[in-house]
Amino acid sequence: MYCVRHVTEDLYWVGANDHRLTLFENIHPIPRGVSYNAYLLLDERTVLFDTVDWSACRQLLENLEHLLAGRTLDYLVINHMEPDHGASLEEVLLRWPNAGIIATEKAFMLMRQFGFQIDGHEQIEVKEGDTRCFGRHTVTFISAPMVHWPEAMATLDLTSGALFSADAFGSFGALDGKLFNDEVNFDRDWLDDARRYYTNIVGKYGPQVQVLLKKAGAVLNQIKIICPLHGPVWRSDLEYLIGKYNLWSRYEPEEKGVMIAYASMYGNTEAAAQALAARLCDKGMHRVVLYDVSNTHVSTLISEAFKYSHLVLASVTYNLGIYPVMHSFLSDMKALNLQKRTVALVENGSWACKSGDLMQKFIENELKNMTVLGERLSMASSLRPDRSAELESLANAILESLAGAAE
Ligand code: FEO
Repeated sequence: MYCVRHVTEDLYWVGANDHRLTLFENIHPIPRGVSYNAYLLLDERTVLFDTVDWSACRQLLENLEHLLAGRTLDYLVINHMEPDHGASLEEVLLRWPNAGIIATEKAFMLMRQFGFQIDGHEQIEVKEGDTRCFGRHTVTFISAPMVHWPEAMATLDLTSGALFSADAFGSFGALDGKLFNDEVNFDRDWLDDARRYYTNIVGKYGPQVQVLLKKAGAVLNQIKIICPLHGPVWRSDLEYLIGKYNLWSRYEPEEKGVMIAYASMYGNTEAAAQALAARLCDKGMHRVVLYDVSNTHVSTLISEAFKYSHLVLASVTYNLGIYPVMHSFLSDMKALNLQKRTVALVENGSWACKSGDLMQKFIENELKNMTVLGERLSMASSLRPDRSAELESLANAILESLAGAAE
């Protein structure tokens, strides 16, 4: 059965929702599923913007057949060639072999690398600033390299103001009927997944996202609707979404608050982390979140680290090193370019406490623009009540730093 939504004028959503995939990119859990968005323009010429993951190909084909209603597909615009969007390209071309493929040079290269049979089909290579008229609608192409692959581009429909933004402005989460941002409570139900998507998928490429935002800023008055490849379509409150992207891509925190991430083997480091959280709350700082790195997926840890201004990393020493899961969190921070955070350290070790020094060295040598607070809490096996003053000092140091942090 076809499942489409009318977006605006003669533009339709023809994508699909996926609740069967457990791990996006075979690494990130998606308990709320994911959508693969594709869009069909029914102008004098018919144009499909991107395809869907192979697993959703049949749904895409049913949607296209329904809306085309016997018309042919004239063009296929590939904004992003990653297989969660490009994998159904070949099947679309089998059904509509006369469709011309519009993409960047690198996208054509990737199509061949993935083994898609595109030879024999019209190939229209486009670059920044090129335009194409499909009848009533004229579009222009905006290169967006590394948002999130090198071939990526966005397409702006100069007639309707629809921006096909590829991975930019996307989110984890299946749409389940509700296509538009104004049909959902985004702050309550989507923001965490949007941040987790951005920070883990595109987070490394903040400077490139900034370039795209500047390009979008130059034509902002022409953008009426943002059509990303995942998650809701934005037809109102565009400044809100752009504002979030602006913060995330500059690695600026969204909230002045404290994320405490602890690595604990027998509960003693966890108890210290809990006691610290309680002290902070006692002193009026309620924007405190606490995560056990052993049972929280690192994609969530990364997302929360992007959200909050202050991090507390509390780790046991393990084989004279940092506890492996905490080390993995730190490595992901490096991989995803997280920076500009203030970090407090809590260390534990029963006979050779090393984790504090090692975490500090990692942060100072491997991450950028991070501040490690001088106050550190060290414990041998457990934090005894007679160390209460040191806990108090650490809480005060964090609060002092928070007070000095920009809003
Ligand atoms: Fe949703 Fe970079 O692919």
